[in-house]
Amino acid sequence: MNAANEPASPRRSNYKQVWTALSATESSAKTHVSGTEDEAALTHSGIETVKYLLANVGIDRNDVVLEIGCGIGRVGKQLAPQCGRWIGCDVSPHMLKIAAERLREFDNVELVEISGYDLKPIVDLSVDLVYCTVVFMHLEQWDRYSYVEEAFRVLRPGGKLFVDNVNLCSDEGWQIFQRHRQFKPAERPAHITECSTSQELQEYLKRAGFGEIETRLDGVWVTVRGRKRKGSDE
Ligand SMILES: C[S@@+](CC[C@H](N)C(=O)[O-])C[C@H]1O[C@@H](n2cnc3c(N)ncnc32)[C@H](O)[C@@H]1O
Repeated sequence: MNAANEPASPRRSNYKQVWTALSATESSAKTHVSGTEDEAALTHSGIETVKYLLANVGIDRNDVVLEIGCGIGRVGKQLAPQCGRWIGCDVSPHMLKIAAERLREFDNVELVEISGYDLKPIVDLSVDLVYCTVVFMHLEQWDRYSYVEEAFRVLRPGGKLFVDNVNLCSDEGWQIFQRHRQFKPAERPAHITECSTSQELQEYLKRAGFGEIETRLDGVWVTVRGRKRKGSDE
């Protein structure tokens, strides 16, 4: 309880509590994933994300693909038919329940609840592509980096990582930054967007051991991909 005798809102880094509450109903889950409850709009945006991944990262038919923070399976629903196995990981059991329902037609889908800080249930060297989209903006920087390190661990040599965030250095990113600055510190919502710079994301991939690091600036987005070098002994 705080001074006004109201229950304190959860800290941003208490991801499980924050996101389980935000996904308490299907309607709230969909809205927090992509700002809409409309299935046609979700389908359209899922297709666009998969097109982007195919064009900029590349996915083979037999690839084991893992999404960090998969939500309701907006992307997985479009990607599962195009890869060998799709593993959706999320901190919120509610998100995963909705994803299971939406993706029930596929037999190559696995949904895994994670702690919010690591990919512990996933074994080393078992994945070809890890991607994380529309999630880093909700994480603290240390936890962004922990997922990059974890991606390195679970990827096979030659495997790829893709991450994105709102680009602080874009005009739209700066507007979001300024808008969110208007919240009084004690009133900032726990899931509020915090932007990245290309240097921040590149540094994470470099420090975790990735090579072939490529960055794209795409409107409001900064996206970074890298590859785990063949011959990496991890
Ligand atoms: C804005 S939604 C995006 C969902 C999905 N990536 C998409 O693009 O449709 C953010 C997702 O990240 C999940 N999430 C938030 N913090 C997380 C964390 N620390 N670890 C794993 N997932 C997290 C939330 O539960 C939610 O499903």
